[in-house]
Amino acid sequence: MLMSSILTLVVLGSYANAFPMGRQFSACCDLSNARLQVPSNQTQLVAPTYAPSYIALGVGTQNYTCNTSSSAYILYGAVAELFDTSCLYGTPAFDSAPTVVYDAWSAAYDLVTPQELITTLGLLPNPTVLGQHYYVPNPVGTGLSPKWDFTSSGATAGNPNAYVIGVKVGDLPSSNSSNIDNLMINGIEGELATEIFRVESNGGQPPSQCSDANITVKYTAQYWFFNSSVSNVDLI
Ligand SMILES: *[C@@H]1O[C@H](CO)[C@@H](O)[C@H](O)[C@H]1NC(C)=O
Ligand SMILES: *[C@@H]1O[C@H](CO)[C@@H](O)[C@H](O)[C@H]1NC(C)=O
Ligand SMILES: *[C@@H]1O[C@H](CO)[C@@H](O)[C@H](O)[C@H]1NC(C)=O
Ligand SMILES: *[C@@H]1O[C@H](CO)[C@@H](O)[C@H](O)[C@H]1NC(C)=O
Ligand SMILES: *[C@@H]1O[C@H](CO)[C@@H](O)[C@H](O)[C@H]1NC(C)=O
Ligand SMILES: *[C@@H]1O[C@H](CO)[C@@H](O)[C@H](O)[C@H]1NC(C)=O
Repeated sequence: MLMSSILTLVVLGSYANAFPMGRQFSACCDLSNARLQVPSNQTQLVAPTYAPSYIALGVGTQNYTCNTSSSAYILYGAVAELFDTSCLYGTPAFDSAPTVVYDAWSAAYDLVTPQELITTLGLLPNPTVLGQHYYVPNPVGTGLSPKWDFTSSGATAGNPNAYVIGVKVGDLPSSNSSNIDNLMINGIEGELATEIFRVESNGGQPPSQCSDANITVKYTAQYWFFNSSVSNVDLI
């Protein structure tokens, strides 16, 4: 365990200098100037013209189960830790973070948690976890639905409405087939957001043919949350 920790730090160490010294904020920074950019040659993602309420860097896994009829994997969930990335907005590190963190995440040992990874990378001086992303039974239909849950983290902890469950309304495949699609998602339950975008995805795609019943594939992505009714009381 000690040896693997040392090796992990060696693996991660080479990425630490990719980030400038963090600005000294303890919580979510002002995003009033932030605007989501989407490719102009498509109609799947329509970016709001106004600022988001939150921007998170998701670090986690996409889960797949094998469809034995087709020998292809089917998505059946995901788990990710959502880190506040608002304090990097407007810096080069904001744009590079999903890829830099993905490279470290995909190289890290399986026992390394997203928190350990982010802390070791020095991405933020006080990495702030906004919440968690996972799947729950669809509240209005069948199957599973994605949920973003800020009810037990940070400034929104204890607010039972600080979550959103969504339904996909736009899907733009990444230009790199290793990366999961960019998505536009509408909120169907919860007050955290009325609209969510998953962009800047890195990794997360399964192999084209099943080898095991269930697999998890590491990924990172930016999540943008719009029109939140849940305020971050520490917003400055
Ligand atoms: C759309 O633009 C992206 C870059 O923003 C490019 O990678 C992609 O090939 C373009 N697609 C089409 C169909 O022109
Ligand atoms: C599994 O694969 C079969 C055969 O290609 C297909 O008909 C079926 O819809 C797939 N099931 C799911 C849940 O995607
Ligand atoms: C997905 O995989 C993670 C482990 O990465 C696990 O904790 C989670 O329960 C799995 N299931 C679903 C439905 O996401
Ligand atoms: C495609 O994405 C993967 C995972 O994010 C990355 O390792 C690879 O370098 C990318 N390929 C290109 C051509 O950018
Ligand atoms: C794979 O995941 C599915 C869905 O969660 C579960 O029902 C099944 O028991 C799992 N199979 C194995 C071999 O773990
Ligand atoms: C979302 O917020 C923007 C800016 O605060 C506002 O102009 C817009 O009407 C809101 N939209 C919805 C659907 O609430």
